[in-house]
Amino acid sequence: MSETVEPRAVNVAILKGGVGKSTISVNLAERLAARGHDVLFVDLEPNGHASVGLGFEEQYQDEGSDDLGDVILDEGKADPQDIIFDTDFGFDILPSTKRLETIEKLVESSNFADVRVRNHVVDPLLGTDYDFIITDPPAYRGKITNNAHVATQNLIVPLTSGGGSVEGFQRMMERQVTPLRNQIGLDILAIVPNRINSRIDHHNNDRKLIERLNQDFPQHLPEFARVDFEEIDNGEHNGDLPKPGIRKDDTISKAYTERKTLAAHDPENEQLERFDELAEIVENGEVTNER
Ligand SMILES: Nc1ncnc2c1ncn2[C@@H]1O[C@H](COP(=O)(O)OP(=O)(O)OP(=O)(O)O)[C@@H](O)[C@H]1O
Ligand SMILES: [Mg+2]
Repeated sequence: MSETVEPRAVNVAILKGGVGKSTISVNLAERLAARGHDVLFVDLEPNGHASVGLGFEEQYQDEGSDDLGDVILDEGKADPQDIIFDTDFGFDILPSTKRLETIEKLVESSNFADVRVRNHVVDPLLGTDYDFIITDPPAYRGKITNNAHVATQNLIVPLTSGGGSVEGFQRMMERQVTPLRNQIGLDILAIVPNRINSRIDHHNNDRKLIERLNQDFPQHLPEFARVDFEEIDNGEHNGDLPKPGIRKDDTISKAYTERKTLAAHDPENEQLERFDELAEIVENGEVTNER
């Protein structure tokens, strides 16, 4: 445990598939660990993409051993430590299991359905075994997603341009975040435009997204996503056009197919410093303007 940080759990979530939840949560966990923290990555997606991507397919497929269900449902049957493993990348993982959909149904019909991950995983581990716990929840509304919100109370939202990702964000805010906020605290730590590709001085969907976020949520935007559009449109950028957001970079998807984090696959990759900025935001508990 590092002595200087306030422990924090963070959920990387949006009600929309394929926008980068797993990519961002895995690489955020890696960056936090690289900064000297004890980090647990919790894969709550029934598809198990992140677990398999990090080399935990055996655990994902194995239906015989203890899994999340035994920890959160069967009081005392298993401790979270029993289902946690070391990764090769500096952080620990609580892998997903192909039983997760069944487990979700059982959670649905249990008492205290929304607080089970909090009570049985996050509370016992955060601040004792781990400085930071990062969760990767499903893209659909349900008990597991609710559990992730309640267990972490901190949100990082990945967004891509087009494909209804902004609408997915609005849906999540209206249907999950706002109702939960009326009951418990829930902070947005950052909104992260991902897979951005196009030039920011041309009119296209990427620009539309970045412009909208700078207008509506400047307080949640990392420095790497902030753009002064007046400067751009007045040609004051002196040929040095900003490239906001986490860029679309094939190395990022290649790292995943090679079952590695981005840092392990390509230690010189330019996008790494952006994941580092996210790690800094998680350490601070908010976007700060100090960079
Ligand atoms: N910045 C990026 N550049 C290039 N490819 C990316 C980037 N971010 C994510 N990808 C790729 O896009 C795909 C979807 O990303 P990812 O799996 O992280 O999204 P997800 O939100 O977790 O999806 P799901 O809802 O299916 O779990 C993956 O193939 C991933 O490698
Ligand atoms: Mg995923």
